[in-house]
Amino acid sequence: MLTSVDNKKKYSIITYGCQMNFSDSEVVSSILNKHGYQSCDDFANSDIILLNTCSIREKAELTIRKKLESFKKLKKKNSNLKVGVLGCMAERLKDKFLIEEKIVDLVVGPDAYRDIPNLLDEVELGNNAVNVILSKDETYGNIDPSRFNSNGITALVSITRGCDNMCTFCVVPFTRGRERSRDPKSILREIEELKSKGYREITLLGQNVDSYLWYGGGLKKDFKNASELQKKCSLSFSKLLDLIANKFKNMRIRFTTSNPQDMSENVLNTMAKHKNICNHIHLPVQSGSDKVLKLMNRKHTVNDYKKLIDKIKEILPGCGISHDMITGFPNETNEDHRLTIELMKYVKYDFGFMFKYSERPGTLAYKKLSDNVPEKIKQKRLEEIIHLQQEHSFINLKKFIGKNCEVLIEKESKKSASHWAGRNDQNIMVVFPKKNHKPGDLVNVKINNNTSTTLIGTS
Ligand code: SAH
Ligand code: F3S
Repeated sequence: MLTSVDNKKKYSIITYGCQMNFSDSEVVSSILNKHGYQSCDDFANSDIILLNTCSIREKAELTIRKKLESFKKLKKKNSNLKVGVLGCMAERLKDKFLIEEKIVDLVVGPDAYRDIPNLLDEVELGNNAVNVILSKDETYGNIDPSRFNSNGITALVSITRGCDNMCTFCVVPFTRGRERSRDPKSILREIEELKSKGYREITLLGQNVDSYLWYGGGLKKDFKNASELQKKCSLSFSKLLDLIANKFKNMRIRFTTSNPQDMSENVLNTMAKHKNICNHIHLPVQSGSDKVLKLMNRKHTVNDYKKLIDKIKEILPGCGISHDMITGFPNETNEDHRLTIELMKYVKYDFGFMFKYSERPGTLAYKKLSDNVPEKIKQKRLEEIIHLQQEHSFINLKKFIGKNCEVLIEKESKKSASHWAGRNDQNIMVVFPKKNHKPGDLVNVKINNNTSTTLIGTS
């Protein structure tokens, strides 16, 4: 461990991919700070560069590989520089990085971050260091994430890790392991700490937050064998939400991601009960065709999904709804694609993340199905749904004109130093002229215009 301030080794972390990775980078930073390392913004001046990586689609991995190549040159200039790969690519490719490709010095999977200081010691001794062991109970619950890069107003709070769903296209269950829920006491303690530092909004994070279940830790499948008392005292996601919303009335609360098969009416009722839980649900569906959903091993039909959407609209009128969609999954026909469009027209989402299917080695789709939709058709279908989503987003944004929104100021607008930017209840970015407000203020803004993604108003 390094102690002298001047001798502190400097590290920088570059994060790719999902919010969970950004949250994990804060955990890694906290672990390193505790062990006498010092965070550094400029990687040209760093002793250690860590890339927290994403494997979700091939394109993500290619981008990261390019970045790694660029560090080869930097390493030639500075022979003391150490490069580490963290996250999903580390887990997926393991020591291939070190042994076969000789690109990096350190490879650490998502459940092994507590071991990074030991692994760095190994690297100092001239050894390669790898730890990609997945855990049944690691949630980093007792680590206070160091909020480097934070705006000081909004923060991510992880509540579950891993995923048990095994969607056939998805690499996450392999790279992040089995689903585990975090001890609610440590969640409440972290939010308390954020409150005391002036944070005003938290996003509860997990691959599948609705399946949160605390009964003392460990894998969910063991719940069947838990004692009656443990079962009676267990805490579901809706109860956790209720607890947090009651305890932190001045904090805005968001959560992501919800899985249609796990989202219960209790969650919707809890959202309706508390003004401080934001009215936005990210509800990935992936396809509007039952045939494709079955091939994807999604555990719901289009009809189940539509019923859930109807329930959301009934219990939470005006709730923002967003989605993830994949085009060109194996065996997707023009008719399946038409059904996806039909579903989008039914829901009229406010926002969406849309992707071309990218075959991931090791997944069930890779093993059992042929990636048989030609690239050109995948692209055409993607463009069609993006275009439709843009239309829906624009129509939905227009509905806000003339209305008032509560906006939590997060930062200065990127486009104008005389404007603030923040999000409304439905997670839509709102920009308005600065007055006597400051970041962290909750402001009533009258909307008078919109772009394709943003609302514009006056306070
Ligand atoms: N439940 C997770 C999903 C993570 S992956 C969450 O927290 O959001 C995010 C999205 O990436 C998925 O919903 C899916 O739409 C997309 N995706 C995952 N694997 C993919 C693949 N192999 N090809 C294309 N898109 C994929
Ligand atoms: Fe992936 Fe499906 Fe889980 S998309 S993260 S396996 S819910």
